Amino acid sequence: MIEQGSIDEVLERSSLLEVVQEVTSLRQQSGRYVGLCPFHSEKSPSFHVRPDRKMYHCFGCGASGNTIGFVMRHYGMSFPDAVRWLADRFNIELRYAKRGAQQEPKLSHARDLYAVNRMAQKFFSHSLQQAPKAVRDYVSERGISRDAIEQFQIGFAPAGWRALSDILRKNRVPEEVITRSGLGRRSAKGDLYDTFRGRLIFPILSSPKQIIGFGGRLIPGLQDEKSDNAPKYLNSSESEIYQKKRVLFALPQASQRCRETGEVWLVEGYMDVVGLWQTGITNAVATCGTAVTHEHVQRVSRLVQKVNILFDGDLAGRAAAAKLFPLFLNSGLDVKVYFLSSREDPDSVAREHSGETERYLQSLASVTLLDAFIEYASSKLETASDSELGAAAKGKLAEQVLSVIQEVKNPIERDELVRQASLRLRVEAEVLISLESGAKVSASNEESSERRLNSSAISSVESLPHGDQVILRAAMVRRHLVTERILRDSEICSILHSSTLSFLQRFHELLENFRDDADSAKAETRELLRTFGPSWIEHWRSSYAMENETDFELLLEQAVLSLSRARVKMAISERRELLAEASEEEKLQLHQEILELERALRRGTLRNDELPSDSG
Ligand code: UTP
Ligand code: MN
Repeated sequence: MIEQGSIDEVLERSSLLEVVQEVTSLRQQSGRYVGLCPFHSEKSPSFHVRPDRKMYHCFGCGASGNTIGFVMRHYGMSFPDAVRWLADRFNIELRYAKRGAQQEPKLSHARDLYAVNRMAQKFFSHSLQQAPKAVRDYVSERGISRDAIEQFQIGFAPAGWRALSDILRKNRVPEEVITRSGLGRRSAKGDLYDTFRGRLIFPILSSPKQIIGFGGRLIPGLQDEKSDNAPKYLNSSESEIYQKKRVLFALPQASQRCRETGEVWLVEGYMDVVGLWQTGITNAVATCGTAVTHEHVQRVSRLVQKVNILFDGDLAGRAAAAKLFPLFLNSGLDVKVYFLSSREDPDSVAREHSGETERYLQSLASVTLLDAFIEYASSKLETASDSELGAAAKGKLAEQVLSVIQEVKNPIERDELVRQASLRLRVEAEVLISLESGAKVSASNEESSERRLNSSAISSVESLPHGDQVILRAAMVRRHLVTERILRDSEICSILHSSTLSFLQRFHELLENFRDDADSAKAETRELLRTFGPSWIEHWRSSYAMENETDFELLLEQAVLSLSRARVKMAISERRELLAEASEEEKLQLHQEILELERALRRGTLRNDELPSDSG
């Protein structure tokens, strides 16, 4: 859990300009920078960055916020992930509030890993240019273009045992860093050797500038000394900066297009992503050799509204899709599943249909995840389709389906799924509903943790802005509902005081960890409040006292709105200041912006979706 002082430091020391410029190009215009908005598609620039204030604002879509907010929004990260990402990026050592035995990774180490990965990538890229004919033949045979090589920074790891490690050592990278990065391993005798040998290399990025790991594909005909049982794909082992369950291959490259279209294609492999990219489907991502996780779904849900899953139509592909049904529940995402025939995969389809691939894919029949789940579950129960299931098997199937659907929180969505399931299973909806659900999720047994008192940088609640106080009230009483809502909202996270953010983030984590253990959650909460100080305990008490006569949801939305208003007022006065030194042309622009901001303020509707749309 990141300490508040660190959040402040990250905000202060990271460069918004640098982060934004990696994503869209900006040109300077008296005291600020202007460019095309990365969050919606537009032809004339309405995206403004004020480096001195570390704030951005788009006059087209209304997106606005600070550096952390930008990273959250652009890369679909949660608040703490964005803080960590910026810390890595700008060499800031994060301090963590101590949590029992479970220590957070040390970021000073992470810095070494990014550096060594970058060196390795340069070496792999260089090696591809000099690669033996067999390698170049393989690349052209797979139809990988020059552009794709550049876009995905594809490289080649030579077949020797020490090609890379020799270079790294020559560059004074300590052996310990080489092994920790997963790029090198130690033999039984203790000698260092390269992990990736004779493979085509796909770097895995967390931003256009940060490499966190690699995937390497075997190149047929190239001698890897033990190639008989070598896996087709080899992936970096996990490290402080690379966790498979969070990472999606090509997400940094795809995020822009994802934003623009509101859609992402989810495929199984590196080559599938590359193949689709070459046909113009530039919003495809893949997991790195693992099943899709809850974390993946969350990241995607921050970026897009629609997910197109494109899997092989074989049993493995169908099983994988079925497993996704529970994962995508409650994600708010609209999911379609496309199964390819057993002879094709997205890469081969892309090569066959090239420029027409998207149209071809859209022409395929899609199924819902519920369908995929029912179909697979019934195929496990009996070989035939569900219409031929025996009564007992059908009962079991209904129970399985229902126990998953019962996890859906939104009652309307739940009813709709029950209705669909009853149609699909040919069971009366009432009968289905009357089935009792099976076992509940087992209780988590996280050990109770000890917290170090660190209240020096934490503000008392009374000294926080009114909006913060109200949001804290709502969070304290409505808990998960509120922390989830706020920590997802890059705009609000850009406005809140860091004490508030620190509390919300730690409270959220606690609620997640002790989801099924109310007693521990209570004890932990008490401990957390104590860490924050007496005014926080008092705020908690008084919030609960208001519980019965207060509509916290309404209170929350009002607070969010009033914070947004404050931000817009600030944006207006910033522009007024700029007027003094602006050229005639800039003045015109500034006046227009002020007008639009004032209009939005008058309407009282400042959320993104209600701000004026792209004025072109
Ligand atoms: P596939 O075997 O479907 O490979 O694995 P592919 O993408 O079609 O690869 P090509 O076309 O033969 O080159 C899909 C994904 O599963 C992971 C990789 O992430 C791969 O992209 N995988 C596969 C592994 O991690 N290890 C393996 O040995 C095989
Ligand atoms: Mn393939």
